[in-house]
Amino acid sequence: MRIILSGAGGAMGRTTIATVKNHPEHVIVAGVDKFADPSSFDFPVYDSFAKVTEKADCIIDFSVKAALKGILEYAVKNDVPVVLCTTGYDSDDTAAIKAAAAKVPVLMSGNMSLGVNTLIKLVKEAAKALSGADIEIIEQHHHNKADAPSGTAKMLLNAAKEIRGELTPVYGREGIVGKRRPEEIGVHAVRGGSIVGKHEVMFILNNEIVTLKHEAESKAVFSEGALRAAAFLTSSPAGLYSMSDVLK
Ligand SMILES: NC(=O)c1ccc[n+]([C@@H]2O[C@H](COP(=O)([O-])OP(=O)(O)OC[C@H]3O[C@@H](n4cnc5c(N)ncnc54)[C@H](O)[C@@H]3O)[C@@H](O)[C@H]2O)c1
Repeated sequence: MRIILSGAGGAMGRTTIATVKNHPEHVIVAGVDKFADPSSFDFPVYDSFAKVTEKADCIIDFSVKAALKGILEYAVKNDVPVVLCTTGYDSDDTAAIKAAAAKVPVLMSGNMSLGVNTLIKLVKEAAKALSGADIEIIEQHHHNKADAPSGTAKMLLNAAKEIRGELTPVYGREGIVGKRRPEEIGVHAVRGGSIVGKHEVMFILNNEIVTLKHEAESKAVFSEGALRAAAFLTSSPAGLYSMSDVLK
């Protein structure tokens, strides 16, 4: 696959460059990064998608929400599938993504790892089996992470809500918060050091607790997942996909 890497100079961009080197069947033909130094790459890197001239089979994006418009315009104009790994999109962004997905294949996932996508399935099973449990989500990430809660925590929240529609998120707790209501689902963000990503979902009953937990040990799991998703999109029709479609 010929890949355009968006956010090439970021932590995930650099990890993806290293991951692609382990896959001789793939090559990065161009990168886009508004702030990176182009001389530090062995492929051309532009500060905007409007300047890309290379032909590609897919775009992999690990950048920022502000880059979305340029990515989608390029993908639709050039008929190139796009894997959106960036997190923190709002409802306007999601509407723009859906509109683009009517024309080209788009995969969006707050977490590209196989393990987390399995965790999501297990959360749904536990929410069914332990229907009266108090559920709390705790996520932990490195101190450079810009958004909270993480995209993965939101996916876990949505998985629990799919089974128990009454659940209402409570983001952190402070002050005299009163008695916990059964429909609350707590969501807590820990930030520090170099934590790659940890997610825990606690199902708390009287006298027993079930905790489902995933730990990413290396950022490479996300790049590997992004490559797998990109390969999936190159043989898929236009539409909006998630990692669960790739794993089916
Ligand atoms: N889906 C997943 O599995 C997954 C995994 C890890 C990270 N992420 C997400 O990927 C994104 C990037 O993470 P990171 O840790 O590499 O961040 P980072 O801050 O290290 O890198 C972001 C890069 O984007 C560049 N950039 C900033 N504005 C830009 C613009 N307008 N156009 C193009 N490039 C621009 C920056 O210069 C930087 O190099 C975040 O949203 C993060 O949450 C997702």
